[in-house]
This record gives sequence, C-alpha cells and structure tokens, in this order.
Amino acid sequence: MTTAVERRELLKEVWREASTCTKCPLSETRQTVVFGAGNADADLMFVGEAPGANEDRGGLPFIGQAGRLLDKLLQEVGLERADVFIANVLKCRPPGNRDPRPTEIETCRDYLHRQVELIEPKVICTLGNFSTKLLRDDPTGISKVHGRPEVQVLGRRAVTLLPIYHPAAALYTPSMLDTLRADFAQLPELLAAPLPEQPAPEVFEPVPEVVEPEAEPAPQPAAEATPEPAEEGAPQPGAEVLEAAAKQADEHQLGLF
Ligand code: URA
Repeated sequence: MTTAVERRELLKEVWREASTCTKCPLSETRQTVVFGAGNADADLMFVGEAPGANEDRGGLPFIGQAGRLLDKLLQEVGLERADVFIANVLKCRPPGNRDPRPTEIETCRDYLHRQVELIEPKVICTLGNFSTKLLRDDPTGISKVHGRPEVQVLGRRAVTLLPIYHPAAALYTPSMLDTLRADFAQLPELLAAPLPEQPAPEVFEPVPEVVEPEAEPAPQPAAEATPEPAEEGAPQPGAEVLEAAAKQADEHQLGLF
C-alpha cells in the first residue's frame, strides 16, 4: 500500500515526465503542458477534453469561462477546487481548439491512467464527449449517458464514473445549465457511497533467477564516437540554473497538489 505522500511524489514524477513530452506533434505548437491540478488525494476527479488558449498560457486546467462555471457548479454542491483533481484527456492544446485526434488521445492516454492510479479517486466525472468515450471505452455520445453513474475499472482502479456535459455547452446553450446542475447534484451522494468493489490485486509469479554467463570485456569506444565538445560560444545552462528552473516549476504545481 502506498501512502498519500508517496502517491503525491509519484504523481510529481509523472508530471515531470509529461512536462517535457514530445510524443505527439502537439508538443510543437503548445506553450505549456497542462498536466492537471488540484488535490492529489481527492475522492473526486474531473476529466475534461483539452487545454484551451488560457490554459495553454497559464499551465492550469479550466481557468477560462468554462472553468468559472465549473467552480460555480462545484460550489453549489458544497465543493471547491481544493477538494478535487482536474485533468484533461489531452495535456496539450490542439491548435485553434480543434477536436482531439484519435492518435493524440491514444498517445496521451497513459498519463491520464497513471493519474487515476495514483490519485485513487472514488468518483470520476467525465466532462463532455471525449473523456466520456475514452473512459467508458464506448462510442456512445454524452447526450445518451449523462447523469447515469456506472462502475468502470480503469487500470487497477474501480471507480464510479459519472458522465456530465462539458460546462462549455452551457455557455453556448444556457438551458443546458439546468441539466448540468441536476447531474452535479448527484455528486454528494455518490461521494458518500462506499467505494466500488476493487479488482483482485495482480499476483506476480516469482521470476526465476537467471545466471548470467561471464561477460566479455566491454569493447572500447572508437575514437570518432567520443562526444563532441559543446559548441564554442553557445552558453550551456549551469546545473544551478536548471535546478532553480525545475524547483520554480515544481513549486508552481506544488501549491496545487
Ligand atoms: N476545456 C477543457 O476541456 N479543458 C480545459 O482545461 C479547459 C477548457
């Protein structure tokens, strides 16, 4: 069993890895990786679609108009951001806020699964079509499944999944606000319910010890394989500079976890 402190540290490692991710072309157009923010030990996690322009600049999820509505809806059911963890299907902004592409969703999926495994939420609210389809592993659209809680096993975690319309939907269609409110109103009861039965832990077979044959002496690198010296004149950042930058970025996130 990992403690909350250990899980928080492991989550920071995932964040560090994601923050320099270049696994898909969105890394070429993004300004910031929006990993997700909030309480690393939250019972409730929200999963949106992808960062927009504000989030891309600010590095945090849901900080624009849709985020303000999300805050309001949370407040109406007695919750605030510090109680929950908010993440997205994609950690980088698609140019012009276009829809996430299947290959991008697939490439980014592992980060979200690791977040779920480490945060260990009881309830996950998917916001909109993309996160609902991904986490239900089913193409049924949000209009058919919103407001219907169900148990889903994600990685090694069984959670109650509650699909909800994306808050941005109510910015375009104000009548949608009543539907969002009705769906949010289920959250206190779902959070008070017992955790769904968890899948049996994996049983690991002991791996037989392999006796290595005696190693040959390692070949010496050829002269031309010697790494090139740093280009003259190009200033290399010193270890302290890199360390300070990492610490600053860490602290920015730390306040949120
Ligand atoms: N919409 C999303 O789905 N996620 C954000 O972080 C912001 C807007």
